[in-house]
Amino acid sequence: MLYAIYFSPTNTTATITKTVAKAIDHTYQTLDLTMPLSSSLSFEPDDVIIWGIPVYGGRVPALATKRFMQLHAQHTKAIIIAVYGNRAYEDALVEMQDLCNAQNFQVIGAISAIAKHSIVPTIAAKRPDQDDINTLKAMASQLQSKLTNQQTSTLILPGNRPYKTYAPKPIHLIIDDNCNHCMTCQKLCPAQAIDTHDPSLIDTSRCISCMRCVDICPKQARHGDPDAISSLAARLHTICSDHKSYELFI
Ligand SMILES: Cc1cc2nc3c(=O)[nH]c(=O)nc-3n(C[C@H](O)[C@H](O)[C@H](O)COP(=O)(O)O)c2cc1C
Ligand code: SF4
Ligand code: SF4
Repeated sequence: MLYAIYFSPTNTTATITKTVAKAIDHTYQTLDLTMPLSSSLSFEPDDVIIWGIPVYGGRVPALATKRFMQLHAQHTKAIIIAVYGNRAYEDALVEMQDLCNAQNFQVIGAISAIAKHSIVPTIAAKRPDQDDINTLKAMASQLQSKLTNQQTSTLILPGNRPYKTYAPKPIHLIIDDNCNHCMTCQKLCPAQAIDTHDPSLIDTSRCISCMRCVDICPKQARHGDPDAISSLAARLHTICSDHKSYELFI
């Protein structure tokens, strides 16, 4: 069985991971690790997983790591995808490869992919676009050939060990008068950081600034602190407005 597995607070990683899976085998199953798993899962030697994460500070998000560690393999083949917001993916692919090895998955291919920046959506705003989707389909065809031919060389991926330190500056979140207390954000927060009675209360020790609550609010009532967002936007527009390309490592 082929599985598309992803941690994807604002859905771009899910879209990209499922695009590759569908192009390899349209009967694939999905496993969403954005919310907690109720129990550990095991994979067979002849299963294949496609595992996608969004890059946070050049690393794998800690919650994505925690949930991936509940998956146990038996030398099961894996294709890994690091989705980033047009700045850099730095050590994310080597970190994913190490996590796969730790859980007994064998990485046979890797993709770096660009998507809309979830904190500053004007960066890479329209990505993945149709060209990106076509690129992913072409990459999937190469990966499928490697799977069919049973080729298993160890991949050398870009990135450093030890990995860079992730030192996030949490983004203060506010809600405005349009909030109708529907509690959708609370139910879908990957970190269980939103108070169950008052959605304006956020436990900042849990919040990972993933922007899911901003993205999914049906009333568009939640926002990141405008000053923090505009200063990050100014920095990102200076350093990463160029058009970067998807990469395949095989
Ligand atoms: C907390 C946080 C840190 C991020 N760090 C990076 C980064 O280091 N490099 C980068 O290019 N994009 C970075 N991004 C952007 C995301 O990797 C990108 O928008 C990704 O597509 C989000 O995936 P999702 O839609 O599945 O949540 C970051 C986003 C967040 C929320
Ligand atoms: S999803 Fe939006 S409207 Fe619903 S509780 Fe959260 S902030 Fe309020
Ligand atoms: S409260 Fe924080 S962790 Fe929860 S959805 Fe919002 S940004 Fe993400």
